[in-house]
Amino acid sequence: MIVVTGATGNIGRRLVDRLLEEGVPVRALTRDPASAGLPAQAEVVRADLTEDSDLAPLLAGADALFLNLAAGGGESAQRLIDAAVKADVPRIVLNSSLGVTDTPADETNFISRMHAAVERAVRASGVEWTFLRGGNYATNALGWAPAIRENGVVRDAHPGAQSAPVHEADLADAAAVALLDRTGAHAHQVHRLTGPEVLTNTQQVAAIAEAIGRPVRIEQISEDEAAEAMAGPHLPPAAARELVALFGSTVDAPAFPVTDTVERVTGHPARPFAQWAREHAGDFS
Ligand SMILES: NC(=O)c1ccc[n+]([C@@H]2O[C@H](COP(=O)([O-])OP(=O)(O)OC[C@H]3O[C@@H](n4cnc5c(N)ncnc54)[C@H](OP(=O)(O)O)[C@@H]3O)[C@@H](O)[C@H]2O)c1
Repeated sequence: MIVVTGATGNIGRRLVDRLLEEGVPVRALTRDPASAGLPAQAEVVRADLTEDSDLAPLLAGADALFLNLAAGGGESAQRLIDAAVKADVPRIVLNSSLGVTDTPADETNFISRMHAAVERAVRASGVEWTFLRGGNYATNALGWAPAIRENGVVRDAHPGAQSAPVHEADLADAAAVALLDRTGAHAHQVHRLTGPEVLTNTQQVAAIAEAIGRPVRIEQISEDEAAEAMAGPHLPPAAARELVALFGSTVDAPAFPVTDTVERVTGHPARPFAQWAREHAGDFS
């Protein structure tokens, strides 16, 4: 049985479906089982990982844990890792980030710091691990959806920012392979996962426009305006400024080169952004 955190999220939903297709029992964690809309074959369990409760019962009998920091980073992740040790869970597949480089640069921004800290905690736990270090997620483009729906104008500080957006289904497929590994091939492995091609934000917006059959314009704004728009309950203003500056640093060259890891791990090529945009056209219409 596999425990999936963030089961109603972008990766989680795909992952739950994949594991069930493989005939593997799944315990899917969500804060609200009633509205989760998860498949009936999954054991859907209520869990708020930020609550100060004993998490070990959530993991009882699990063969592996999919740990997504979207469901609780920092202290919550540490408590879940401790609970996995207590419940004798033999394997953790951590949804980490390409921002982790195993160099001092990991301390220079919010995203790298957070993921690097949890990677260290997982390594220290003694549990077998696989780290899925994803680059820029294609789903980040959903942040443009309200503006595209409203007036077809995306306001962005760095239209020329470059990345290789990775599809959530590819991340889920790679997670399933690592979680179900019977050969040991993925034990203590770091998988650096990107999409198949580098695109600028302008090119991503063009792919979305193509998918929805309507023009979308990208308008450049200042870094301060972009950081202000991005900051919120889960992203303090200073972290938002760091992120916007980080995107700016990719205008000359992407932060990470394209990898072939999706294909190596899953056996199929990484899904292109144009496909992602077609599949998500409804979100932008
Ligand atoms: N965006 C990127 O470019 C990028 C790049 C590299 C790595 N990452 C990593 O990937 C993560 C995002 O993955 P994703 O897109 O699959 O996540 P997501 O769609 O944001 O899903 C998060 C899920 O977590 C659950 N959740 C939130 N708070 C919770 C809590 N207190 N207790 C239990 N569950 C909680 C929610 O489910 P319920 O509402 O059902 O509880 C939600 O559906 C990021 O946080 C980051 O760690 C992102």
